Amino acid sequence: MSSEPPSAPRWDSLAADGLTLVLVEQNVVPGLKIVTRGYVLTAGRITTTGTAEQLMADPAVIESYSGRRRIDPRRDAMTPTTTALVRPARNRFDGRAVVVTGAGSGIGRQTAVQFAAEGGLVTVADIDAAAAQETVRLVTAAGGEARVSVTDVADAGAVRAMIDDTVAAYGRLDVLHNNAYWAPQYTSVTETTEEQWERTIAVTLTSVYLGCRFAIPHMVERGGGAIVNTASTAALVASPLFAAYMAAKAGVLGLTRSVAFDYGKQGIRCNAVCPGLIETPATARVFADPERVAWLTDKIVVGRAGQPTDVANAVLHLASDESSFTTGQTLVVDGGRLIG
Ligand SMILES: NC(=O)c1ccc[n+]([C@@H]2O[C@H](COP(=O)([O-])OP(=O)(O)OC[C@H]3O[C@@H](n4cnc5c(N)ncnc54)[C@H](O)[C@@H]3O)[C@@H](O)[C@H]2O)c1
Repeated sequence: MSSEPPSAPRWDSLAADGLTLVLVEQNVVPGLKIVTRGYVLTAGRITTTGTAEQLMADPAVIESYSGRRRIDPRRDAMTPTTTALVRPARNRFDGRAVVVTGAGSGIGRQTAVQFAAEGGLVTVADIDAAAAQETVRLVTAAGGEARVSVTDVADAGAVRAMIDDTVAAYGRLDVLHNNAYWAPQYTSVTETTEEQWERTIAVTLTSVYLGCRFAIPHMVERGGGAIVNTASTAALVASPLFAAYMAAKAGVLGLTRSVAFDYGKQGIRCNAVCPGLIETPATARVFADPERVAWLTDKIVVGRAGQPTDVANAVLHLASDESSFTTGQTLVVDGGRLIG
């Protein structure tokens, strides 16, 4: 067992004011000996380090752990990979049912984890069953509540089932985060095939229509709800060779305003986030090229690319009661790229 402080993984992406993070990292080292390390990070500063066992036995750590269950040394120490147990000071979604699409990866996974960390009951919807299952595992390992919905968001019947099954499982629907997408990369309009065009519009735009169509009646029945759609800065300014994606994402912004306008008096708020460059599996090719990353981040006002948690923080804000006077809006989450 080692008690040396861990080398720095990307904690900065998880740090934010008002958060207390308890992170437990396990490494399998040669010889298959498991080394467990732990550290507590409060609002961006490491305040305590020690083995996971030491931290989890520390009354101060347990006291600051504001989740719904106390640390269980056996269960938490068994987590096979680095696990971030995010314990926000707030529980803005306690007991609320949340559907996140594209939740098997990147932004959607992080958003699902953060909704659950704040007490949300989360339906993790993705076309990739194994990926969705892994998100649910991350949520439950951190003491949260989530269920898998294997859903192709371009399929009306599947989206209806995704929504209805959530209401059946959790008895309500409070938040819908339309986030899944598909698009061919590096294709101008003349290079885009009709199949690519139709699939992009179906997965990236029609999915938002379907989600809203089937979710809104349930939300209205209970007095309201919040919808947050993931668009993109590519909906606002040109991005090279992204014809179908840009068209679909611009459509998402129009639909966001339409839903906000038509259902506001029935308690529905609908907003969009426009991420800029975010490090996710979707952008892995970009991030594999350090020179390209340096060139791109140089244009970003805050001097770094975004992490999924940067977008998740914005989504949770728009989905929460904090933003009850905000609807039909577009929140650009791009580190200031578009103002430069
Ligand atoms: N990463 C960025 O830089 C960036 C920038 C702007 C906007 N966005 C937007 O953020 C959202 C999430 O992107 P990401 O980077 O996390 O991508 P990602 O590739 O990491 O995750 C996308 C997820 O969507 C799922 N998916 C694909 N087709 C689906 C379908 N038909 N039905 C259900 N699920 C499906 C995939 O299986 C995957 O799990 C997207 O809407 C994307 O357009 C991302």
